[in-house]
Parts: sequence; structure tokens; C-alpha cells
Amino acid sequence: MWRHQLMTTSRCFSTSIRALHWWDHVCPAPKDPITSVTEAFLADTSPVKINLGVGAYRDDEGKPVILQCLRDAEAKIAGCDFLESISSAVSSKLVEESVKLVYGKDSDVIKEGRYAGVQALSGTGACRLFAEFQKRFHPESQIYLPNPTWSNHHNIWRDAQVQQNTFSYYHPDLKGLNFTALMDDVKNAPDGSFFLLHPCAHNPTGVDPTEEQWREISHQFKVKNHFPFFDMAYQGFASGDLDRDALSIRIFLEDGHLLGCAQSFAKNMGLYGHRVGCLSVLCNDMKQAVAIKSQLQKIARAMYSSPPVHGTSLVSTVLSDPDIKALWVKEVKGMANRIQTMRTNLQESLWQLGSSLNWQHITNQVGMFCFSGLTPKQVDWLAREFHIYMTHDGRMSMAGVTTGNVNYLANAINEVTKYGENA
Ligand code: LMR
Repeated sequence: MWRHQLMTTSRCFSTSIRALHWWDHVCPAPKDPITSVTEAFLADTSPVKINLGVGAYRDDEGKPVILQCLRDAEAKIAGCDFLESISSAVSSKLVEESVKLVYGKDSDVIKEGRYAGVQALSGTGACRLFAEFQKRFHPESQIYLPNPTWSNHHNIWRDAQVQQNTFSYYHPDLKGLNFTALMDDVKNAPDGSFFLLHPCAHNPTGVDPTEEQWREISHQFKVKNHFPFFDMAYQGFASGDLDRDALSIRIFLEDGHLLGCAQSFAKNMGLYGHRVGCLSVLCNDMKQAVAIKSQLQKIARAMYSSPPVHGTSLVSTVLSDPDIKALWVKEVKGMANRIQTMRTNLQESLWQLGSSLNWQHITNQVGMFCFSGLTPKQVDWLAREFHIYMTHDGRMSMAGVTTGNVNYLANAINEVTKYGENA
């Protein structure tokens, strides 16, 4: 008896010793370059602080916006039974409406059912599903990401174990598109490469190709048989017009590409916390669409089974009710216009302060972001002395600029830039 007790105790003891060491090798992960900006902002107690970090829409008071169209959609679905059995119907409706938004409601791919579409956890989830799909069915392929791109694209394709490459995109001296280098990289990539493209309001640069340039890119993709994967996170924010912002994708569609597209409603419906999105992959025929959809569903099933239903119901109601949709279209334009006004005000304010730098790019760039050209040192200075927060690459979310803080921001930028880049 005594002997038995001793053996049990010593077994427990050695197990607990081992257990204590289970996680000793885990080191803290590096901070995320975008979410860590929000953390720093929240920790700052200054009343004048400004958050230009995360790309989520804010109103002229700097507050998150609840669009009236969502209030209307909420009223319309109030009292609905959120039964388990309706979730797949809600999800299908969302996909059906999302693809119309991006490919155009009269497009042949939609009429002919030549797409595989699944609901996804916002744009990130849609990209992640696609990256996994790419790895399974083209295991040797790489992904070409624009340089620079949204920092999370690197995480997503890395976690799916897809090798990454970059293609030229931004010209720091011009603060615009490096089109020649971009086209060279497209031409020099091995035939049949996967490329990630931002269809509008490029994140982080705010620099988009012109219509003519998109046509050339699409043509070259055809020549090289590249696969275009679009991450549509800001539809409506570049021009204020949802159709116009889908022009690049429609050009690729016209040219007969079988493309893929991630869509997010985090920004253009102000639903960041609800994670509503869609992944679609265009197919040769319906049979292929059925096969691809089943594979995407299989991937999602193992990752998170199915997404939550409430935000999805809101978005599909907005998109399918003609009156509520018309209101949304107007509200998207309103958000885009406010950002545009802030761009102009910031630029004028800097000029009025006598800044000798060329701030033309503030209004040349489009969408939610201004790639300011501020150096990491100047970004740190802005945070330390002026309580102004942005990502280290100098990306400013223009949604954080308001009538009330624009002059303060201009003054701070003028202060940190007037002694040159390394002051
Ligand atoms: C951003 O780039 O700030 C947004 O896409 C939000 C995010 O999740 O990173």
C-alpha cells in the first residue's frame, strides 16, 4: 500500500515537472505593425491624441460610424429566428449579392453560374481560405505580392506555407506607381504565376493604376497566363462609386481571366467587428464551380466550421433590399467624400504653414490611406511629442483626420519635416 502510494506520488511529481516545462520555449510574437498602433493610441491619455493607424472608417468626430442603412437592415431583420437551419440560406444570399457587387449584376459569369463563392470571415478570412486552396491545388506555386502591400498579406500566405515573392509597385520618389517596373516584373515572373492585386484604394500607398494601365496589366497577365487574385477591401472608397471601384476587375473579366476575389464589408459598411466577407473563384463551367466550392467549404469546415450569422444577415439585407441598398450607395459616397475633403484640407493647411515639401501626393493618392513619405524617425517623433499615431511606414489612415484635428496634424507634420528627413 505504502509502496503503491509512493509510486503514484512520484509518477505525478515527474509528470508535473514535465508539464511545467511545456511552454518554456514559447517567446512573445513580434507586435503586429497595425494593431500595435491602436494599442499605443489607447494607452495614451492625452486629450489631443489622434489615431491614423487602423484603416477603419471614422466620422468627423473621430467616432466609428453606424450607417443608417445598417440601422434599417437591423429593423428589417428584427425578430427573425436565427435558427441553425437558416444560416446556410443567409450565407448563400450574401455570396449571391456580393459577387454581383464586384463582377456586375449582368455579368456572364453570374448569369451562367460560373463561380465558386463562399462566405468568409471578412477579407482576411477570404484571403486565408484562398491561400490554403492555392497550397492544396498548386502546391509548388508562389504568390507575388505588391511591394509594399498590406502587412497581413505576408502573414496569411506564410501561414498557408505558400512561398512569397514581390513585384514592384510603388515609386518612393514619385510617391506614385512604378508602372514600368511593375510591368517588367509581371513579364519576368514564370508563366502561370499567382499575383495578388489590390483592385482599388491600394493599401498602404493609396496609389492605383489608371484604367489604361489596368488594361495593359490584364493583357500581360493573359500573355503570361498568370492567375490574378484581387483583394477588394475598400470598394467605394477610391472614387465614392462602387461600380467604378470595380473597374479593374471588370477589365480582367472582359479579357476572360479566371480570377479570384476576396471581398470585405469591414470598411464600406463599417462592420469591422462582424467579420463579413466573401471569397469567389471564377470557373470554366458549373461543374468546376461545384467542385471548387465544395473544396473551399471543406477548408472552412476544418478551420471554423461556419461564420456567425448576424452581420451576414445585415449585409445581405442591405445588398438585396433596393431602398436600403440605395441608401448604402449614398452613404459610401458620403464617407469617400469626407476623406477626400480631409485630404484637401490637410494639404492646404501644410501649404499655408509654409511647408517647403511637395504635398501633392496627399490629393493624388486615393482611398483610405495616404502614404505620407514620413520616415520611421518622424513617425516616432509625431507619437512622442504630438500624440499622433500611424504605422511605421508613414501610412496615415485619412479616416482619422477630422475638421477638428486637421490643423493640429498639419502643424505637427510641418514641425517634424522642416528640418529634413533625419532631424
Ligand atoms: C488596415 O490595413 O489597417 C486594415 O486593413 C485593418 C486591418 O485589419 O489591418
